[in-house]
Amino acid sequence: MKTKERKEHGFVVWLTGLSGSGKSTIARGLEKELRTRGLKVEAFDGDEVRKNLSKGLGFSKEDRDTHNKRVIYVCKLLIRNGVNAIVSLISPYRSTRAYARKQLPNFVEVYMKCSLEECIRRDPKGLYKKALAGEIINMTGIQDPYEEPLNSELTLNTESDTSKQNIRKILEKLRNLGYID
Ligand SMILES: Nc1ncnc2c1ncn2[C@@H]1O[C@H](COP(=O)(O)OP(=O)(O)OP(=O)(O)O)[C@@H](O)[C@H]1O
Ligand SMILES: [Mg+2]
Repeated sequence: MKTKERKEHGFVVWLTGLSGSGKSTIARGLEKELRTRGLKVEAFDGDEVRKNLSKGLGFSKEDRDTHNKRVIYVCKLLIRNGVNAIVSLISPYRSTRAYARKQLPNFVEVYMKCSLEECIRRDPKGLYKKALAGEIINMTGIQDPYEEPLNSELTLNTESDTSKQNIRKILEKLRNLGYID
């Protein structure tokens, strides 16, 4: 993409990782930081999107793909109008994330790296407990796969680094890429 087009477009920070890895936590903090800088930003959080745009969809590969692709579509509309987006979706499949990368200019994939053991310890929504008891199926990391990113713009370790440190790393990456001042 030409520099001018790059500047006119918004960017997308795409947070991917296991449930409990810290996507929503980081997204909230990052949104605040970007707004403070006067940037236009919309946030798409998996749980919230599943209550409206993706209402009725489940957790099969097909439904997860549909859910993710709806968000990709809306992001595409926003960024071409200069609005930035923060996406926090587990987005466990490489093929879906590759599709997002292809569809979205200024795509910044951030891998929220956290061991499954630590996510199970955190279990902020009690989902792992339910999955391990067999009460829910299709839980990523338990019955369903999580395909680790191979070419993320940024990998954050949410076990060794604090949310604050990780938000700073995203801001630094956005600066290095020339998306923010
Ligand atoms: N360094 C850290 N970064 C982010 N979250 C952390 C960190 N250390 C502890 N936590 C805690 O881990 C939990 C992460 O939960 P969060 O809801 O952000 O995960 P998520 O990736 O959005 O999960 P889901 O996919 O289920 O929505 C929170 O309770 C948060 O306070
Ligand atoms: Mg979340």
